[in-house]
Amino acid sequence: MNNDNLKNLSPEYLKSFDELSLSFESKSSEEILRWALNTYAKKIGLASSFGAEDVVLIDMISKLDKNNIRIFTLDTGRLNQETYHLMDEIKERYSIPIDVYFPYFSEVENMVAEKGFNLMYKSIENRKLCCEIRKVKPLNRALEKFDAWITGLRREQTFTRFNIKKIEIDSTHNNIIKVNPLSDWTNEMVWDYIHKNDVPYNKLHDTGYPSIGCEPCTRAIKSDEDPRAGRWWWEESSHKECGIHLNSKNQ
Ligand code: ADX
Ligand code: SF4
Repeated sequence: MNNDNLKNLSPEYLKSFDELSLSFESKSSEEILRWALNTYAKKIGLASSFGAEDVVLIDMISKLDKNNIRIFTLDTGRLNQETYHLMDEIKERYSIPIDVYFPYFSEVENMVAEKGFNLMYKSIENRKLCCEIRKVKPLNRALEKFDAWITGLRREQTFTRFNIKKIEIDSTHNNIIKVNPLSDWTNEMVWDYIHKNDVPYNKLHDTGYPSIGCEPCTRAIKSDEDPRAGRWWWEESSHKECGIHLNSKNQ
């Protein structure tokens, strides 16, 4: 499977991709990663917000083949200090470069001038605008150079992700391949891996943050709350996504 196939999604291609995708569901995350790194060498990126899943993937990739992939992050300008500490720690520990994508400064300047620094609390439209400028557009820019990208998405995280596959065609991003090697992992499996392999992780996880996004939009949760309750915590909707994973078939 190469990039020529991606441009032309013929019925034959779609059929063979579906078969491949189905057969990959029983493969381990390492097998999926090995396949992805071989197939899309130099044209594949790992999207990392340095949450628990992403550090697991970085550790696995560093043991498989870290030379044929770019690790990238979307720095919204509103991340927690703990996240910046972890990025430096990861860079040093694994001797890997991290490509950082920022939003276009003029778009941020205009948005803040018009709607204020904390626009996200005023309406869902404002919050989505902020996510669009600070995350969605930088992601689109990052993905332009790839034929495939890897994410730390897991089905168990939220109902909008329950249907994700280990490999998918990402129709939102020019039909490149989206690889979700941990899609069937549980939270326990993630943390077992982190502890067994002594993987550096975001210290906010120790203070009640199972899921970490931007500082103004993430809070710690109580033990009886849903793991994503701390994301955009003031919003009522249970359908809380920032817009970077909107291609999944269930959305
Ligand atoms: S989000 O859409 O709600 O913010 P979440 O925090 O669950 O996503 O992360 C899911 C996956 O999306 C991560 O494992 C990572 O692959 C990708 N991701 C999320 N935020 C970023 C970011 N700031 N930079 C790069 N990748 C990200
Ligand atoms: Fe803006 Fe919050 Fe979205 Fe971050 S998560 S981009 S601060 S609205």
